[in-house]
Amino acid sequence: MKIAILGGTGSLGTGLAKRWHQAGHEIFIGSRSIESALQATNLLGLDDSRACLNNHAAAMADIACLTVPFAHQASTLESVKLSLANKILIDATVPLVPPKVMRVQLPQDDGCAALMAQKILGDEVRVVSAFQNISAELLQSDHSINCDVLVCGDKRDDRDLVINLISDIGLKGWHAGPLCNSAAAEALTSVLIAINKNHEISHSGIVITGV
Ligand SMILES: NC(=O)c1ccc[n+]([C@@H]2O[C@H](COP(=O)([O-])OP(=O)(O)OC[C@H]3O[C@@H](n4cnc5c(N)ncnc54)[C@H](OP(=O)(O)O)[C@@H]3O)[C@@H](O)[C@H]2O)c1
Repeated sequence: MKIAILGGTGSLGTGLAKRWHQAGHEIFIGSRSIESALQATNLLGLDDSRACLNNHAAAMADIACLTVPFAHQASTLESVKLSLANKILIDATVPLVPPKVMRVQLPQDDGCAALMAQKILGDEVRVVSAFQNISAELLQSDHSINCDVLVCGDKRDDRDLVINLISDIGLKGWHAGPLCNSAAAEALTSVLIAINKNHEISHSGIVITGV
């Protein structure tokens, strides 16, 4: 598939781009600046033509993945909204509020970042949330990753598509229910950060048992 990574110059974006590129997908790196996007495409061994402004990347792709800090989620989505019409947006946003990132601080009005994204994008874009609990550093590495991915979205077919993309990078994705359930995945990230700190480990993650 043609996949746009919006904010694809950052930690999570480059990690996902690397893995999806290795799996044979066509990647478009979106950024606020072409220079930053070019730096990322060079680092990833992608053609210069894959370096785009966020809006252009969204327009070029079949599906987009948002990987920007929570504070910039809304402004980035407003800037790409029209280019995402009739597409799926995978939202990886975790509503962390620095400096207290070990504390769950979900947005009070909307309940979670994924529902905020859906409200901004409207009915023409189907938001699916995923990747909140996986370490960007692990994705950037060449190691195999022992972490499952919770996938929330209101349409089963959309979740299926995202789960297939997750499986392409060697990970297990789970149907975790409607988009509002993303609150649990988003909250879990602060729990994992607290576990990392308190147990002196770098990349705690989650695996579903009982299979
Ligand atoms: N890091 C992880 O391990 C991890 C894991 C799971 C989920 N997440 C979530 O994934 C998202 C991205 O995390 P990250 O660590 O990859 O973030 P990051 O590296 O700090 O930033 C990602 C990109 O966001 C863009 N950005 C920065 N400031 C911006 C602004 N003012 N307006 C618009 N775009 C801006 C930048 O792209 P340009 O400068 O090129 O525009 C930057 O490269 C976050 O919501 C995070 O909670 C992260």
